[in-house]
Amino acid sequence: MSPGSARVSVRPPAEQVSAQQFAEDVAFYLTQTPRQLPSRYLYDDLGSALFEAITRLPWYRLTRAETGLLKTHARAILAACAPLTDAVELGAGSGAKLAQLLQARDSGSDALRVHLVDVSRSALTAAARLLVGLPATQVITHEATYEAGLAEFRRNQAGAGRTLLLFLGSNMGNFDPPQANELLRQIRNALQPGDLFLLGADLLKPERELMLAYADPLGVTAAFNRNLLVRINRELGGDFDLASFQHRALWNAAESRMESYLVSTRTQRVRIPEAGFELSLHDGETIWTESSYKYSREGLFGSLQDAGFARRQAWVDEDAQFALILVQR
Ligand code: AVI
Repeated sequence: MSPGSARVSVRPPAEQVSAQQFAEDVAFYLTQTPRQLPSRYLYDDLGSALFEAITRLPWYRLTRAETGLLKTHARAILAACAPLTDAVELGAGSGAKLAQLLQARDSGSDALRVHLVDVSRSALTAAARLLVGLPATQVITHEATYEAGLAEFRRNQAGAGRTLLLFLGSNMGNFDPPQANELLRQIRNALQPGDLFLLGADLLKPERELMLAYADPLGVTAAFNRNLLVRINRELGGDFDLASFQHRALWNAAESRMESYLVSTRTQRVRIPEAGFELSLHDGETIWTESSYKYSREGLFGSLQDAGFARRQAWVDEDAQFALILVQR
């Protein structure tokens, strides 16, 4: 890092979801069979705050397990990646997990560029503020989708040193397997030979535990799910009656995923003027809003190998059944 250079640089948005795209997606997905809504729309400001609350629930152990692994094994992870010039986090959120890892760097460490990719500007601002305080750290924010952020990172990194790319929080679990495999290939293509990839993934566990995590007794996950309707009402002029929808979580063992639905509790008609359509729902009809895939260790290594990565190391919280997997391009 050159003396006096800005320690936080903000790249302009590479790709943002426009209001028109939201309207088109709502109209398209709500008229599919089965009716559905893309889970990426769960994260407006309130949705992000509700998700943050979910991560603190006693029944949703994933985030605490991952943070614990990062804290306990930070030195081992950093040693396996050394020497490192760049760290990239996809879906950085608050930046707390990356900070947990990077805090273990020695005070005399070489300069590190930290690239944060997230669609939320407020999350990026908070994360940059947190990380820029670490020794010899330059923070570059990319307000972008994963794909656009990866492309931007690759364009700007030709000939740089060694990179560690992190994709944490089992965020991969919200992608269907073909999309997840495509994303893994894009991640590999954004990296150079010798670069490393750290994946945080939630493992298979008893159905009883999964049901408590995705249909928590406090109703926070239900609020997170129903907020999608609040967002459609606010941004697209919809008239969803929130009191007439219930949250439902289901374990689909054949597909190895938790499924979240909004269930209409009566026959009703809903207008969404800015998406240009009306919807008739019968009593008990569902709108599928999210899938959260759960993985076996072998399955994860198989997908990573298929995407062109070589196995390095894994750290597993055996109690919570959560894995951090380090692979190399
Ligand atoms: C962000 N993602 C990995 C969470 C998950 O577990 O699928 C979102 C979530 N949905 C309900 N609870 C948490």
